[in-house]
Amino acid sequence: MRSLVTGGAGFIGSHLVEALLARGDQVTVLDDLSSGSMENLPAGITLVRADVADPRTIDLIAAQRPSLVFHLAAQVSVVQSVADPDHDRAVNVVGTRHVLEGAAEGAARRIVVVSSGGAIYGEARLATEESPAAPESPYGAHKLAAERDVALSSLSYGIARLANVYGPRQRRDLEGGVVAIFVERLLARQPITIYGSGEQRRDFVHVADVVAALLAIADSDRDGTWNVATGTETSVNRLLEALQHELGPAVAVKRAPARAGEVFASSLSFARIAEDLGWRPGLDLAAGLRATIAWRPDGA
Ligand SMILES: NC(=O)c1ccc[n+]([C@@H]2O[C@H](COP(=O)([O-])OP(=O)(O)OC[C@H]3O[C@@H](n4cnc5c(N)ncnc54)[C@H](O)[C@@H]3O)[C@@H](O)[C@H]2O)c1
Repeated sequence: MRSLVTGGAGFIGSHLVEALLARGDQVTVLDDLSSGSMENLPAGITLVRADVADPRTIDLIAAQRPSLVFHLAAQVSVVQSVADPDHDRAVNVVGTRHVLEGAAEGAARRIVVVSSGGAIYGEARLATEESPAAPESPYGAHKLAAERDVALSSLSYGIARLANVYGPRQRRDLEGGVVAIFVERLLARQPITIYGSGEQRRDFVHVADVVAALLAIADSDRDGTWNVATGTETSVNRLLEALQHELGPAVAVKRAPARAGEVFASSLSFARIAEDLGWRPGLDLAAGLRATIAWRPDGA
């Protein structure tokens, strides 16, 4: 199988690339390395360095003639999407259109597009794929617009709406990576900052489970949208407790005002993907956190 992964040099993409290689696919990565890195990729992988927002990317993708396209490249910062919504649209909406066109011109069998449950449903508990979309940022609105373009394309498609993903290789300097940030700070014996009460809750899903879900979606021939999540809400306070259990107590926990516009509770139901594709999360939070810590070269 010839597979092409946009955003393959990033956190989630690089885990997907490893899994595709392990099953014997020929893999090409298309990435502009804006937040990803070559260090994430196995040696010898073919990298097409290109920006999905650039229309020339259409021909670059078509020329690869991939039978399977995974589209993960994105402007991933909510804060950045508010500061520069035009750029977010160029990458996340127009860029997705270019990837769709390239996949169609290259006669791809199927495209799997990664979207964001948290950003699309907004404040929601156990959101299902039928729950109303209520994006609160240009990032969420553009992810939703991109999904609609995918559904309108002529390609066989699957859309994965991910919850909060964590695991090895997640960057600590980017927003959203609360697990990566806490692990880093606990290991470095630096203070932890909690914004607001710490009772804000998220649905944390391990990257290995996300990769398994993306492969299940790729293997299906049904068009559709599936949440990829654990259906379990974990507060930031509880997350810190679980990490301290593994890594020892924080030197200090500072409290800071809640961040404006932050969703308080977000969790997604995985009932549809379980029913349709037989996927369910394999790692609970404790096991997932241990796997994340164990990966680190300086981990316990
Ligand atoms: N991490 C999460 O919790 C989460 C949750 C929901 C959805 N997602 C989605 O998953 C996907 C992957 O995110 P991630 O967490 O691995 O982030 P990441 O930043 O590690 O990966 C994104 C990759 O896309 C590349 N990229 C960015 N802009 C590009 C462009 N214009 N052209 C080509 N390549 C470009 C980056 O260099 C990077 O390698 C994204 O679509 C993101 O919206 C992530």
